[in-house]
Amino acid sequence: MGELGALKAELHTLQEKALAEFTKAENLNALQALRVSYLGKKGALTDVLKGVGKLPAAERPVIGKEVNAVKTALAEGLSACEGSLAVLEKQRRIQSERLDVSLSGRQSACGSLHPVQQGLDEITAIFSQMGFEIAQGPEVEDEFHNFDALNIPPEHPARAMHDTFFVKDTDDAAMLLRTHTSPVQIRTMKRLLEEEHALPLAVVAPGRVYRCDYDVTHSPMFHQVEVFKVGEDISLAHLKGVLQHFLSTYFEKDVSLRLRPHYFPFTEPSAEVDVGCVFCAGKGCRICKGSGWLEVLGSGMVHPNVLKSVGIDSTVYSGFAFGLGVERLVMLKHSIPDLRLFFENDVRFLRRMGA
Ligand code: PHE
Repeated sequence: MGELGALKAELHTLQEKALAEFTKAENLNALQALRVSYLGKKGALTDVLKGVGKLPAAERPVIGKEVNAVKTALAEGLSACEGSLAVLEKQRRIQSERLDVSLSGRQSACGSLHPVQQGLDEITAIFSQMGFEIAQGPEVEDEFHNFDALNIPPEHPARAMHDTFFVKDTDDAAMLLRTHTSPVQIRTMKRLLEEEHALPLAVVAPGRVYRCDYDVTHSPMFHQVEVFKVGEDISLAHLKGVLQHFLSTYFEKDVSLRLRPHYFPFTEPSAEVDVGCVFCAGKGCRICKGSGWLEVLGSGMVHPNVLKSVGIDSTVYSGFAFGLGVERLVMLKHSIPDLRLFFENDVRFLRRMGA
């Protein structure tokens, strides 16, 4: 075999080998490396071409044609492999980046409002839906609003009953942590009248109150909701109607109601309100101590002296007021046995009470 034959054979082997290697390339990068090693400046085909110089001039075009044919074959082989590798790589990527949208999401711990806050919101909303305006007052109060304006003068024995926490403000004036939400009656009536709000006034005032008292049923900080309405011809019947609606809505059943004569300096007459025991339906059980009744709040008709202290003419206007303990109502509604559970923040209790 002459030079020409040897070169042709060499080109043929090179083509076979190259095409075989192209088909085995694992990815586009490997294929690119093969392109360089066969068709690049320093590639195998260039090497073969170096032999062309040794051929007689007449034979060179023949081999030139052969070389071009090999180049085309390799180029075609490369682009065919490139095409199938591209498809393969896309499939691999789709496979590895696949999202299983049917997998359930990661659960993140979700908190909820404290049961007392839930109770406050629930109770406030019932009155708000009846048209009562929501009001608030300060927790650090003066004696005037907490006592004097509520018809509890300095020497009045009721002051001692309130187990008051006294604090001093920056001017050394005697201040106290309000012992009930009733001072909000005074502040709100004054404010609304100054804003020339027309009577009747109907207000619901939720908030924290403080008493120096601690045992199974008493906490030094607890929550009350104060409700009052002042206008012309407001009577005990209005009080009873509002209470009946509120308690039946809150306990989600038709509860019976009992007003028991009582004494509060800021109401006259005054009554403690009992509901028929929600546990035994009035038959008598451990919770109601066999009486069939549960005491839930204090109430009465606003005392004329209280109206006078905010400049309302008690010969024309009258009002009712009541104040309820939020913790107690939440305990009764959810059968919570111990008041202290509200303040210990045991997550097992909080989870059970989660909204
Ligand atoms: N302020 C009273 C208490 O804390 C409750 C009350 C409010 C009673 C309004 C009558 C009228 O015990």
